Amino acid sequence: MGKKIFSGVQPTGNLHLGNYLGAIKNFVSLNNDENNKCVFCVVDLHAITVKQDPTELRNNIRETVATFLASGIDPKKSIIFNQSKVPAHSEAAWILSCVARMGWLNRMTQFKEKAGKDKEKASIGLYSYPVLMAADILLYDSTHVPVGDDQKQHLELCRDIAQKFNNEFNVENFFVVPEPLIQKELSRIMSLKDGMKKMSKSESSDLSRINLTDDKDQIINKVRKAKTDPLPMPGDIKDLDNRPEAKNLLGIYSNLTDSDIEKTLSEYSGKNFAEFKDNLSQVLIEKIYPISIEIKKLLNDTNYLDTILSEGFEKADQIATKKIKKIHKILGF
Ligand code: AMP
Ligand code: TRP
Repeated sequence: MGKKIFSGVQPTGNLHLGNYLGAIKNFVSLNNDENNKCVFCVVDLHAITVKQDPTELRNNIRETVATFLASGIDPKKSIIFNQSKVPAHSEAAWILSCVARMGWLNRMTQFKEKAGKDKEKASIGLYSYPVLMAADILLYDSTHVPVGDDQKQHLELCRDIAQKFNNEFNVENFFVVPEPLIQKELSRIMSLKDGMKKMSKSESSDLSRINLTDDKDQIINKVRKAKTDPLPMPGDIKDLDNRPEAKNLLGIYSNLTDSDIEKTLSEYSGKNFAEFKDNLSQVLIEKIYPISIEIKKLLNDTNYLDTILSEGFEKADQIATKKIKKIHKILGF
């Protein structure tokens, strides 16, 4: 049977190789399966949980749509829209925040990381962010949610919220309890500068990530400067345990060449990193640079991008409004 797919990406700029390999590449293959119904949301309400410049936010919303399209998502076969336009998301988030428990949210590690030491100064939105994410997913009766590994805990929370609502109001199966779809290998792409940190939009050094808008020279330069260790390339997968940077680069290469780490290791075992890095750059240029060109082309046609969003809005709003009406009935409003 077909799946109902929902996922979201924040329009916070610097979409990178981690977003692509951890999430967007998977969106494309799910979208290519005719049996699936896919909704891809630009989660601008999530973006404002930290301060955003309005002009940059507007550009980043369009850039996120452009990235979806450039990566191969077909707007005819999916719904692409931005979250803030569909009021049911904010409304459902409030209602579900009365179902979710403080104790559940207090366990969320992403909040702890993002809020840092001074939690008193974090916005309330940053804290309740996973409840909005649950609203996104549950409004569309989504059965499967493709995400990177960092969102696993938020999806567990979403499942808990769905189950508590269904039990509390005695409405069995009203909210579909969704399954996460997380890549088995390479669910977390690491920084090019530190194999223990995930590749991230907000890392200050641009050398830490391959952006999906990087040109050829930037790709070559970043791969050349990527951190490695002084040992030659390992021969056995076990040898990678204490070599996070080597593991990350080998993982990226294997994924992009549709191979596995064992095969890549047998190809490069004992060689030095320089040769491997040259080939990694070539593969990145082959697979990622065309996306970069297409993003830039699409960004010149803002009318087209805005049309995709408004057509997506019509379809999304219909589904979400229907669900919120049912929620009202259940609650007694
Ligand atoms: P965000 O940019 O935080 O909205 O993330 C969009 C998607 O990319 C989510 O599914 C994340 O889990 C995924 N993602 C972000 N960073 C990484 C990373 N370094 N490795 C793998 N997946 C990632
Ligand atoms: N929180 C997700 C992230 O930062 C983005 C997101 C918002 C999302 N709503 C979602 C992902 C619903 C999947 C489903 O990456």
